[in-house]
Amino acid sequence: MKVLGIDIGGTGIKGAVVDVKRGELVTERHRIPTPKPATPSAVAKTVGKLARHFDWDGPIGCTLPARIQKGVAKTAANIDPTWIDTPVRALFQEVTKCPVAVLNDADAAGVASMEFGAGRGRKDLVIMITVGTGIGSAMFYRGRLIRGSELGHLQLHGDSAEKYASDAVRKSLDLTWAEWAGRFQEYLSHVEFLFAPDLIILGGGISRPAKTARYWSLLSTQAELVPAILENEAGIIGAAVTARKKARKRK
Ligand code: BGC
Repeated sequence: MKVLGIDIGGTGIKGAVVDVKRGELVTERHRIPTPKPATPSAVAKTVGKLARHFDWDGPIGCTLPARIQKGVAKTAANIDPTWIDTPVRALFQEVTKCPVAVLNDADAAGVASMEFGAGRGRKDLVIMITVGTGIGSAMFYRGRLIRGSELGHLQLHGDSAEKYASDAVRKSLDLTWAEWAGRFQEYLSHVEFLFAPDLIILGGGISRPAKTARYWSLLSTQAELVPAILENEAGIIGAAVTARKKARKRK
């Protein structure tokens, strides 16, 4: 079964056809720069372009860096504020004429890790944390996604933790890896204190091997801590797998 997966990020909108059984891309990734401003209608046009690029008329799974409830965006921390209350699923279905499933970007990355990565077969409490422009999270218990967690917005030093410990903060304040790791450790300890997960999977740009080499030894957790392996493709794959499951339920 093949599904088109689309990952909407702050700088690029990427799509590829996914073999959802194997969790592998079966086409090259096609990337279109995110329109500026990234309003719902401009992004929808790009999603339409991607679907046409792949000549697609089947199910589509799509990520968005926002909380999604019943196909509607409910937050917009790092995206254009006009996304709030946008019926994203309906909008993307209209431009693509395909059945679309929309989910949070970190939830999608988590789904990919649970199906094909470090979370495979895990029945205990797993938390995926993605670190990039913001901090995203996905929680799983007994293998099921507890949809919509926003652990990047836990309060730390009086504001959302992502404003203190994201990769964007590391870059903008020109922090050394040790300085950033100190901040991120505070965040991880807070997450552990509140949720006591058994496994933490670290995803997003920060989980690339070239980067983990710089800070991994500086972190310590009670839970097992592992980097995600599908970093670049996790959103696309997780979105496609979710769309497949939803299409099945409709039958
Ligand atoms: C958003 C989340 C998103 C995360 C990573 C946060 O600012 O609130 O919904 O998953 O960034 O993109």
